[in-house]
Amino acid sequence: MLANQKVAVIGMGKMGTTIVKAMIQNGLVAPSQIVGSTGHEQTAERAAKEAGIRVVTDSQSAVRDANIVILAVKPQTMMSVLDTIGPYLNSEQLFISLAAAMSLAKIEAKLPAGSPTIRAMPNLPALVKEGMTVMCTGQYAMKSHIEMATAIFGSFGLVRVIDNEDLMDAVTALAGSGPAYGYIIIESLAEGGVKAGLPRSLATTLAAQAMRGAAAMVLETGEHPAKLKDMVTTPAGTTVDGIMALEEGSLRVALIKAVDAATAKSKELSKG
Ligand SMILES: NC(=O)c1ccc[n+]([C@@H]2O[C@H](COP(=O)([O-])OP(=O)(O)OC[C@H]3O[C@@H](n4cnc5c(N)ncnc54)[C@H](OP(=O)(O)O)[C@@H]3O)[C@@H](O)[C@H]2O)c1
Repeated sequence: MLANQKVAVIGMGKMGTTIVKAMIQNGLVAPSQIVGSTGHEQTAERAAKEAGIRVVTDSQSAVRDANIVILAVKPQTMMSVLDTIGPYLNSEQLFISLAAAMSLAKIEAKLPAGSPTIRAMPNLPALVKEGMTVMCTGQYAMKSHIEMATAIFGSFGLVRVIDNEDLMDAVTALAGSGPAYGYIIIESLAEGGVKAGLPRSLATTLAAQAMRGAAAMVLETGEHPAKLKDMVTTPAGTTVDGIMALEEGSLRVALIKAVDAATAKSKELSKG
């Protein structure tokens, strides 16, 4: 699908580099089809070595011949970068912005009129090809553009497209921040294993794999999590006692409040 496409990745930090590596590893593009850019010479060299592509510090030259421009700089540098590369852009190019809490309207205002634009929110498990990306599209993004973006983000995880951009704050709070909540759950379960006498490394592996297994069951069977929980919970068995302790500790409410609070924070940042 991307066989004849030239891709510019503006910002070869954690996300930019992850995307480039996944695209190449999945055979979506050859290294020669991608050019990256960074703010500093030293990081350009490091990123070029890590991703195996040409990385420049002159973003204008990177975007000039590109069909797809992935904008992967920090939100606070995005506007000045768009000002710098603006004169070298055209409305035939597909723009994909990764900037958290930055609306399509704000990005589109800096692009040539009529440019197909996609806002994407990936998350960091992309590093191990277990990412979750949610995209919303600007008014000029066609089916073919969405398919190309889906192929790019699909090279390191699941992809979903939503119609309502307002929901991107909730997406950020759940999928973006979610791994942090998961790490706390895994760390705490492992602590419980240690309390019960397991060596820490074994306890951590058991906790992480139990969470991975539970997540895979939800995703692969499509069953409601409550039904899967019931399958584990034998009458008068061990699990139900554990569940009672979780309910006493208000785990559910704590997690709901976590997503709610992070959504509110994302909304606040989006306004700024
Ligand atoms: N990390 C995540 O989990 C995550 C998840 C979802 C979305 N995002 C979004 O992805 C974007 C990138 O995040 P990140 O975590 O990858 O950030 P990062 O690691 O800090 O990378 C930022 C990159 O931008 C480069 N840069 C800075 N100024 C530049 C300029 N003028 N021209 C070209 N490149 C420039 C930096 O190069 P130098 O180091 O040389 O300055 C660096 O390579 C952000 O908008 C963020 O909101 C990140």
